[in-house]
Amino acid sequence: MELPDRLKKLPPYLFADLRRKVAAARERGVQVITLGIGDPDRPTPDPVVDELCRAVRDEADLHRHRYGCDQPVAQLARAARDFYGRRFGVSLGEDQVLPTMGSKDAIAKFAMAVLNPGDLAIAPSPGYPTYNIGHVFAGAVTHYAPLLRENRFLVDFEAIPREVCRLAKLMWLNYPNNPTTAVADLEFFERAVAFARRHDVLIAHDNAYSENTYDGYEAPSILQVEGADEVAVEFFSLSKALNMTGWRVGFVAGNAEAIAALRTVKENIDNGTLRAVQFAAAKALSMAEELTPAINAVYAQRRDMVVHTLNENGWSIGKPKATIYVWAPVPAAYEGSSAAFATALLEEAGVVVTPGLGYGQWGEGYFRISLTYPDDVLEEALGRIVEARL
Ligand SMILES: Cc1ncc(COP(=O)(O)O)c(C=O)c1O
Repeated sequence: MELPDRLKKLPPYLFADLRRKVAAARERGVQVITLGIGDPDRPTPDPVVDELCRAVRDEADLHRHRYGCDQPVAQLARAARDFYGRRFGVSLGEDQVLPTMGSKDAIAKFAMAVLNPGDLAIAPSPGYPTYNIGHVFAGAVTHYAPLLRENRFLVDFEAIPREVCRLAKLMWLNYPNNPTTAVADLEFFERAVAFARRHDVLIAHDNAYSENTYDGYEAPSILQVEGADEVAVEFFSLSKALNMTGWRVGFVAGNAEAIAALRTVKENIDNGTLRAVQFAAAKALSMAEELTPAINAVYAQRRDMVVHTLNENGWSIGKPKATIYVWAPVPAAYEGSSAAFATALLEEAGVVVTPGLGYGQWGEGYFRISLTYPDDVLEEALGRIVEARL
């Protein structure tokens, strides 16, 4: 079978080579520890699970087994609006919130909702790969905006070429950021909104990590900027905030026209999330401020352990204020090659980290450790990294 162009245009999967090497090492009997994936190890909080069980068994709900899109749970959109009101002081109209089957799905579909084939869209590099993949599936073209250490990994709006500003229809932002762990303040989002107005670009802010924050830091929403809903949407996910990656639920908020366009794509492709999951997600959002501190306390402790160990062994990295990752430069001996370092770490220590190049050209020179592994596993992996003296 001849693959369609859209699949051929996908960037080579940079982790495929590493995955092959991991399989080979396991075959040789190496007990490989993977620190590569951002998928919470801790369980979903009990009240959320209880609400799921209640809803899925609720015989009075005659729609409980039916298509979640045709029988949406009004409580979820309301809980999302209430949450944005309480958490960010942002007031959202009914047409400004749309539940999603998690952010990944919605991010990919959003490109189809707002871009024509040949359109130009801006995505950060390093960045979450799905922004570009959505563009490819929509036949659009990605311009990468580099996230540089000297700019604290923030997009430098002034450095975006004039022609790109003129042509771009859409721009992705993501703070707190995966993979760099960078955070943005409200002033950055004000500049983003001004950029969007000046160049008639729609901003899609991926807010997957706003609730994974530490040491009293509170991440803002782009929708806090006056008039942001005229030019921006924000994707919120319950996955990392509330240990709910497998549940596939989140929402998008902000610009009503863009949300209506995404709704049209979704209505034609998916059938929504099971109603019981929607009830449980509403419960999770209504209790978010109560539930997230315990979740974040676990990550903060792991973060401290990773940063402390790396810094005792030649690194010099600050403690991230947010996300569930640590982003660190590869040691000088590897001359900036994140793949060479990741391979050496696998061969010498049996530990898998994510090479920065996997997140795009500008991720080269760094690697990412995920904090979503049990303390003893992380401890063992760190011990091996130290012993390998790389
Ligand atoms: C930056 C970013 N956005 C979106 C997602 C997708 O999250 P989900 O589809 O589980 O909501 C992830 C997951 O790793 C992510 O890192």
